Formats: sequence, C-alpha cells, structure tokens
Amino acid sequence: MCVNETPVNSLNQGDALPTRNTVFKYGDLFPVLEGSEDEIAVPCYQDSESMAAVSRLIPKREPGYVFQEELLKGLLDYLAAPMNDALYIFGPSGSGKTSMVHQAAARLGWPAVEMTLNGRFEMADLTGHNTIVRGEVMFVYGPLVRALKYGYILMLNEIDLADPAELAGLNDVLEGRPLCIAQNNGEVITPHANFRLIVTANTNGAGSEESYAGTRLLNAAFLDRFRFLESNYMPPEREEKLLGDLYPELGREFIGIMVRTAGEIRRSHTCQEGTAVYMTIPMTTRALIRWAHLCQDADSPEKVVHALDRAFGYRITREERVYLHRIFHDIRGDVTAGLQNRAE
Ligand SMILES: Nc1ncnc2c1ncn2[C@@H]1O[C@H](COP(=O)(O)OP(=O)(O)O)[C@@H](O)[C@H]1O
Ligand SMILES: [Mg+2]
Repeated sequence: MCVNETPVNSLNQGDALPTRNTVFKYGDLFPVLEGSEDEIAVPCYQDSESMAAVSRLIPKREPGYVFQEELLKGLLDYLAAPMNDALYIFGPSGSGKTSMVHQAAARLGWPAVEMTLNGRFEMADLTGHNTIVRGEVMFVYGPLVRALKYGYILMLNEIDLADPAELAGLNDVLEGRPLCIAQNNGEVITPHANFRLIVTANTNGAGSEESYAGTRLLNAAFLDRFRFLESNYMPPEREEKLLGDLYPELGREFIGIMVRTAGEIRRSHTCQEGTAVYMTIPMTTRALIRWAHLCQDADSPEKVVHALDRAFGYRITREERVYLHRIFHDIRGDVTAGLQNRAE
C-alpha cells in the first residue's frame, strides 16, 4: 500500500487553508477542450504560505501528456459539480486512469492525496492512527481525513482489490455525511466543499479473476453511490503522437509498427476475430512507452524484438511470446513491403 508521504508536523494542520475558488472555462486550462464554454471553479490558495503548504500535494505536470477529450470532460464535469457523487473510473491496466487524474489536478492546481488499495486494506489506513510524537500520543490523520477536512481530491486506486466489507466504512462519506473518527475520541470531520473522491479499478466492480487476479465483486449499495467513467487505450493516432513526441528519433514508420503491434496484442487479449492465440495480458500504453524507450539504440530487428520482450514479452507464456514475435514480424513485413511499393 502506498500513501504519498507527509511529514508528521504538517499533519493535523488545524483549519483548512484559506482559498478563494476561481472560475475557469475548461478550454482555458485544457487545449484539447478548446472552445468549450463549460466552467469549473478551482481552489486558489490565498497567500504564498498556504500555497507553499499545499504545493507538494499538487501533482507534477507532465507537459507531453495526451488527454482523451471525452474522459477528461467527464472528469471535469465531476470535479465541477459532484452533486454528492463519487467518481469511479474503470478500464484496462495502463490505459491512463490514474495519470489522467494526476495530470488534470496538476493543471487545475487542486491538491490530491492518494492511496493504492490491496487485499489487506483496512479503513484505519484511510482514517488514521495513534502514534507517539515527541513523547506524546497523537492521532495522525490518514489521507481520507486530510482530503475531507482540507478540501483535497482523494484518489483510491485499485478499489476492487479491497475487501467490500471494509469499504462499507466509506458509506457515510459517500453520502456526503460528516465522518466520525471513533479512534480519536469521536472527532467529527465535516466535508470541505472542495473534497472530491475518485476511485480507479480495472473492473467496474464486478471483479474478473481471469484477467485481473485478486479483484472482487464490490457491494451493489457501495457502487450505487458512484458515477462511472470508462477508460480505454487511446486511439492509434493518439498513441503514435505520444510516442512521436517522446521519441522522435524512432521515426514515424517505426512508431506506426509499434502501435499496430500493441493494438493487435490488445485485440487478441479480447479474443477479437482473426486472432490466433489468446493473450493473457494486454500491452499497456505504459509497456509501449517502455518498449520505445528500450528501442532507442536498437539497430537491428533482433534488438527491437529483445527490447519488446524486456518491455512486455517476458511477462507472457512462451507460446504467447512466439505469437507476439509473429505479430511484430508480420506487421513489420507489411509496412516494409508497403514502403518498397511506394518507392517503386
Ligand atoms: N494519455 C496518456 N498520455 C501520456 N501517457 C500516458 C497516457 N496514458 C497512459 N500513459 C502512460 O502510461 C502510464 C500508466 O498509466 P496509468 O495512468 O498509471 O494507467 P492506469 O491507472 O490505467 O493503470 C503513465 O504513467 C504514462 O506514462
Ligand atoms: Mg492506476
């Protein structure tokens, strides 16, 4: 389980820092939504001291990040007007669920705290625990309490790995009701107007042992408190642009081959027509970027295949790997033949 670190002395920082919400048009902050008249009010911290206090909670901006319009709009609509909902983003691994929230928060300047759940998750991981600070017992707020009290985004990744019975502890918060912390003498935390709860998962709460080990069927009453967004791998032309911006030296033709290879692997993962072997895992955007990175000094097809194995192929079975290599060679052959025809 990983929580973004916070020094003890800045925990339980007292009251929420002074903010004045400022309204922007979506298009002012996100060029991909240029022209959109929709508006969002975002927290602006009033003085440099407050800004300094929260700045490390505002995710770092990745300039080359590629947003998918529909998804981004769904996320901004939620952040702008949550209407007592929480947001559930589901979709295949490495398709950009977590990074989209980070990158949107980075551009909005909205502090975010985050935790990745697992099968051993307990509510106390979120609410906090007693600890000894300079000889005194002190209750240290967990990420849920900090987000609720100070108006941050709380992001819980891999929610479908957690025990549904533990997650029921979030029901009050999901209803917009104050949270009572029994372990801290019943302290009552009233939700800040800028608090938002976003969860991500590979499944829509139905679990899928086949593709995602450890995922569970979540409780229907719990799921009823969310609005949903489905994330998917970006379309090939977007993925080509992303790789082209990151590794221009690889050249457009070669990047096209890589993206088509990834697309074919994803097709065989979902058993689409014409695919000969079932791939147990799809090639994620993350793995594709890793492949491109490892190809930077690959000067022969063998080295490119070796890079592909290191980026992805060694995670699948031998039989699947043979198929993976065949996919790559067929696509490469097609493109090379196409280029020769064009030159003739
Ligand atoms: N739209 C995108 N633009 C740029 N990089 C992306 C995009 N989607 C995914 N990635 C890359 O893939 C990595 C994994 O994405 P992530 O958001 O962690 O996926 P998920 O949460 O769906 O498993 C990111 O760190 C980033 O490098
Ligand atoms: Mg994630």
